Amino acid sequence: MIDDKALDALFRTARTHNGWLDKPVSDDLLRQVWELARWAPTSANCMPARIVFVRSAAAKEKLKPALSPGNLDKTMAAPATAIIGYDTEFYELLPRLYPQADMKKNFVGNPAAAQTAAFRNGSLQGAYFIVAARAVGLDCGAMSGFDNAKVDAAFFPDGKVKSNFLCNLGYGDVSKVRPRNPRLTFEEACRIE
Ligand SMILES: Cc1cc2nc3c(=O)[nH]c(=O)nc-3n(C[C@H](O)[C@H](O)[C@H](O)COP(=O)(O)O)c2cc1C
Repeated sequence: MIDDKALDALFRTARTHNGWLDKPVSDDLLRQVWELARWAPTSANCMPARIVFVRSAAAKEKLKPALSPGNLDKTMAAPATAIIGYDTEFYELLPRLYPQADMKKNFVGNPAAAQTAAFRNGSLQGAYFIVAARAVGLDCGAMSGFDNAKVDAAFFPDGKVKSNFLCNLGYGDVSKVRPRNPRLTFEEACRIE
């Protein structure tokens, strides 16, 4: 078991952030997030997540028109914003990522199956991404309040990659954190059969 300090940093005291300190996030740190997150599991090792780190002022301006009003100011202020997307044609890489079996054939010509696998595994990778970011000392603020079509047109113009959610990254201003909401107990959310 990892120690209490690590458990707090990943889960128990980690919070969703809405305000950001004026402290930049380096390329190297963003790279470290992926270097950890990429080891977490996906079905048939399919790894459909595709991530754009929006960090420059020009890229932030490109993102701006897609943001909902409640997410606008904090996203423009965040040192970086990750667009967590998923590649709807992820199966093209399966011969390399899962060479022991022909998994690609399950998805070629079956867009519904590809969409289900891409969204499921891409969402899992988004969650792993948040935990990895916390593990390297970053704070996160995930957001689904934005116009996906606008983000896709601006950042994924070839149409293959679809946005899932956004995640602001940086060093959070603890004074802007909202009150912690309750969580479901084990008894409410789980059962052992
Ligand atoms: C996928 C996802 C989408 C979210 N979308 C938004 C959003 O659009 N705007 C916002 O202010 N918070 C958003 N949140 C933040 C959640 O409300 C927050 O993570 C949750 O209430 C838990 O807060 P805590 O981590 O501080 O306990 C989102 C969180 C997730 C994981």
